[in-house]
Amino acid sequence: EYIKELRDISHLEKKLQKILGIQKVKLVNGVVAAGDLKAEIGRMASKFLQQEIENGDILAVTGGTTLAQIAAEMSYSTEAREVTVVPGRGGLGEDVEIQANTIAAKIAKKIGGTYHLLHIPDNIAEENIYYLTKEPSIKKTLEILKQANILIHGVGTAKNMAKRRGMKKNEIKDLVEAGAVGEAFGFYFNSLGEIIYSTTSVGLNLDDLEATKKVIVVAGGEDKAEAIIAAVSSKYQDILITDEITARKIISLQ
Ligand code: BG6
Repeated sequence: EYIKELRDISHLEKKLQKILGIQKVKLVNGVVAAGDLKAEIGRMASKFLQQEIENGDILAVTGGTTLAQIAAEMSYSTEAREVTVVPGRGGLGEDVEIQANTIAAKIAKKIGGTYHLLHIPDNIAEENIYYLTKEPSIKKTLEILKQANILIHGVGTAKNMAKRRGMKKNEIKDLVEAGAVGEAFGFYFNSLGEIIYSTTSVGLNLDDLEATKKVIVVAGGEDKAEAIIAAVSSKYQDILITDEITARKIISLQ
């Protein structure tokens, strides 16, 4: 019975790889209670990350509740490692626990590496970007960020993330009416995977993503299925970590 389950899950992973066109999909097996989903996905992603990471790596991370679970589920390394962790973008002004800075620091401590932080909000006015990026501590983090060879990020529904990113009600309505369904680090995608809106930021942009060697995306929940289809593609990501129920939902939407 167990062998059959494993076979089913690997079949499902391959199917999803094909649909999304990405290199690898890893699925948490079975029906997981909604309240445990992020912890389960976090556990799988943290194990995967710990296996993947090597000395010399620069790891960029985003914020969010899923990423916070990854950091929480990681175990402490017994030795120091030459790994640098940086946030991929500025902060959203949300709970400190789910900000990219906090997650970067926590993961760095667990891995036995070092970290650099980005003490700026994610949504800064265009005219302030120039001066802010001249600020030595910000400049340094941004230089390191541009060299990141691994990125791990979350995906959210456009509506929810627009709200969390502080957009006004009428702006959210416009965004959704324009077709936005998914969001990843400030970029809003329609169901065809096209970017239809983005917030200004000094952090990573999508061109950086194409150049990053390994991009891992972590997201689960049936409500995120559409968002995952929109934001995930071979152009940007290499590996998706999610769960069986979300996978089946994605397949049903095809
Ligand atoms: C944000 C990321 O911090 O977290 C986004 O920048 C992502 O890429 C979001 O959409 C997901 O948040 P959560 O809480 O659903 O994991």
